[in-house]
Amino acid sequence: MIRRFSYGTVFETEAVLDKPEAQRGALPYFDVDPKRRALTCRMDADAVVYGLGENVRGINKRGWIYESRCSDEPHHHEDKRSLYAAHNFILFDGRERRFGLFVDYPGILTFDVGFTDASVLKITAADWNLDVYLIEGADNRDIVWQFRRLIGRSYIPPRWAFGVGQSRWGYQNEADVRAVVRSYRSLRLPLDMVYLDIDYMERYKDFTVDRTRFEDLAALSEELKAENVRLIPIIDAAVKQEDGYPVYEEGKAKGYFCTREDGSLFVGAVWPGRSVFTDMLNPQARAWFGRQYKALLDQGIEGFWNDMNEPAIFYTEDRLAHVLDEISKLKETNQNLDLEAFRRFTGLFGSLSHNPEDYQAFYHTVGGQRVRHDRVHNLYGYGMTRAAGEAFEQLEPRKRILLFSRASYIGMHRYGGIWQGDNKSWWSHILLNLRMLPSLNMCGFLYTGADLGGFGCDATEDLLLRWYALGVFTPLMRNHAAYGTRDQEPYRFSDIDSFRRILGLRYRLLPYLYSEYMKAALRGDMMFRPLAFDHPDDPRCRTVEDQLYLGAELMIAPVYEQNAAGRYVYLPEDMTLIRYTAGPDGDGAFVREALPAGDHYVPVPLGDVVFFLRKGRCLPLAEGGQCVADVDFENLHMLACDDAQPYEYYHDDGVSRDYDNPRNIRWLRA
Ligand code: NOJ
Repeated sequence: MIRRFSYGTVFETEAVLDKPEAQRGALPYFDVDPKRRALTCRMDADAVVYGLGENVRGINKRGWIYESRCSDEPHHHEDKRSLYAAHNFILFDGRERRFGLFVDYPGILTFDVGFTDASVLKITAADWNLDVYLIEGADNRDIVWQFRRLIGRSYIPPRWAFGVGQSRWGYQNEADVRAVVRSYRSLRLPLDMVYLDIDYMERYKDFTVDRTRFEDLAALSEELKAENVRLIPIIDAAVKQEDGYPVYEEGKAKGYFCTREDGSLFVGAVWPGRSVFTDMLNPQARAWFGRQYKALLDQGIEGFWNDMNEPAIFYTEDRLAHVLDEISKLKETNQNLDLEAFRRFTGLFGSLSHNPEDYQAFYHTVGGQRVRHDRVHNLYGYGMTRAAGEAFEQLEPRKRILLFSRASYIGMHRYGGIWQGDNKSWWSHILLNLRMLPSLNMCGFLYTGADLGGFGCDATEDLLLRWYALGVFTPLMRNHAAYGTRDQEPYRFSDIDSFRRILGLRYRLLPYLYSEYMKAALRGDMMFRPLAFDHPDDPRCRTVEDQLYLGAELMIAPVYEQNAAGRYVYLPEDMTLIRYTAGPDGDGAFVREALPAGDHYVPVPLGDVVFFLRKGRCLPLAEGGQCVADVDFENLHMLACDDAQPYEYYHDDGVSRDYDNPRNIRWLRA
């Protein structure tokens, strides 16, 4: 049962498809305090609070304070309160009460989940104009299922987007891209995508190509597609302010960019320097921005990643002038800065980027009304990705286009996926990657994954091998690294056989992964679940933060510590351990071992992938391949437990939008 409670004048986010009538009565379980703009609820000691999508910390969000404020945050430390997204959904699983709560509110929202007072959940909004949806159901899965139905079907990418992607901020030109493809193919490392970061553009101008680096993008795209590799360019939110640049000129002439209070263009700096920001909340502006993608579609491009769309603002002209002014005053100290002066100096620099005041300095136009940006801040990345998604439906009605974004709000899940942003080559970020998966799935984001190997810092071979052993299961499987970090393509390291085997496993698992993805998308289910969702009566499961169920068949439990030779795993029921390891001929081989319910230490040598097959289940496996097009999705090998039930297999052409055809489903016997 879903009930909506409405407070103040609510901004229409279009997160929800069909709004139920607003209730008149009081919001159950919560004290509602309009003066403090707060909702408060008591938490019993063992209540678990799930949700909040892309965020730091655990699957259980208790014990910290989170802020929905889409931020360009490259440091995913435990003490952060916001990453790139605003996923305002929680699932409260307590002894006496169980409910889902979605706060549909596009401004800054705080979830204090026992940070100030360990037994209190307090949600505070920047202003009192919000819709609150309370969802009650039979169990956690039922609540999520109802919520997902409310917000609509998750984005479905083309099937080739489940292949392996290689990315790096630093591939400069055609030769760099060809070298990546050559290295992968010559070493028989499977590959389906190479990503183009900002250097393909002409001076960071969206929808342009630097012809000195990429002489003929269409020809390159065609050449690589013949090898089953697709190029996936980045698109940035900010549009360079440059006379003569058609996108800028046209957007300005049509009044499609955000403006300041006095109606003048709002200018902030990102990669190209001075830039303007499309009014992604204005439907005409959005449609116009979406049409710009055609410039790249026409060159054979079939996928995009939308970046910097919180939106990131490195500085505004006014603030830069102010900071330079203030710094010049420090000259009076004769460059002898004492503690206070030095703090002021560094503080001034620190105040330049992503300054909250700058987000109050520009406006959108929605239905003829001017809306100050900070009040709707969390909708920007959603609007940008929606712009692209809606345009693709017009421009390519028969074909799925790959699309994922950095910033997001619930509702955006219908138009694209997200990647988990600028993580680091840290062991703890393997675990963070895993923990976000179920939280994101609850909020409708299914096509997701992290930068494998880590974006910032230097990766090591063992880190990458262990991370891939998780990444083989995530829908988006992409190795990506920051400019200036150590090269981390698998072929930069020595144990090529292990990389080949692990990447190869991905292609053997593809029929299953794709089928599970599609069923989760079409039915509003989670692909990844915390263990407690399936074992509500097992108290141990409520505390497991490093294992997940994947579909109805598998449990995953990756190694995420350096120099570990294995790990402890808790089995809530009898399972079969599956080890993918080097066989006698050097290729991958599956080795099975039946294990009883309980705690086990499982040795996992580097290069092995271990996962668990549940009782009575079977797993369809393909022969594998060098790319998704190579994979035979028909002739499958079933890895089965004794007395395995048939597997419900979803299979379609992987490209068209004919998802609902009943012929796509069939039952496979073990
Ligand atoms: C920030 C993105 O998060 C990262 O993935 C990308 O490489 C850089 N922007 C440069 O475009």
